[in-house]
Amino acid sequence: MTARITVLASGSGSNLQALLDAIDAGQLDAQVVGVFSDKPAAFALQRVPEPLRWSRVPKEYASREAFDADLADAVAATTPDWVICAGYMRILGAAFVERFRGRVLNIHPSLLPKYRGLHTHARALEASDAEHGASMHFVIPELDAGAVIAQAPVLVLAGDTAESLARRVLQVEHRLLVHVAKLAAEGRLAEHDGVAILDGHPLFTPQRLEFAPTWPPVA
Ligand code: GAR
Repeated sequence: MTARITVLASGSGSNLQALLDAIDAGQLDAQVVGVFSDKPAAFALQRVPEPLRWSRVPKEYASREAFDADLADAVAATTPDWVICAGYMRILGAAFVERFRGRVLNIHPSLLPKYRGLHTHARALEASDAEHGASMHFVIPELDAGAVIAQAPVLVLAGDTAESLARRVLQVEHRLLVHVAKLAAEGRLAEHDGVAILDGHPLFTPQRLEFAPTWPPVA
């Protein structure tokens, strides 16, 4: 059965586009049933037809909880099998996470548990890491701390800036996201007691997906 995927996004939505392209190409048996944003100007919203878009300005709500409750009700109305955070830059409150527990996934631009939070590319360079990359994980109330399902590494190159590294990481994010969305859509993925389950077995270490880099590297 075609999986219903609801996407949360705050930015340009290139990860959302990767999902839409995979669906169009017949690589992913899913339907994007809603795109939700905390930024009405987010380009991600433009990537889907108007009836699928939802955006509200958090500042216009009395509290963080009130915004989250409205968001949660609107997300629930799309009856999603999976909720995917694809560049959603606002922390989801515990009430939201508990309501959809085990069905919320996030893509994060680092090899977790390294560099939770922001400025991951600059932090990897600052630490002189030889590799950096992206992770796809289950969302729990603690930021970027849920069970990791799969990761895609990227080599750090001499002369990399946070921007050049971010561009190469984004390329692998698109493939990582589609890979994990496919596992989810096929019913192969679950979470139990903080552990990711793939095909009925606990994943004690995340899958490591080595995508061939484009060469020469994107500048
Ligand atoms: C991506 O790099 C994603 O991993 C990151 O925001 C970017 C969104 O790009 N997400 C986070 O940092 C979440 N903490 P996109 O809008 O082009 O998909």
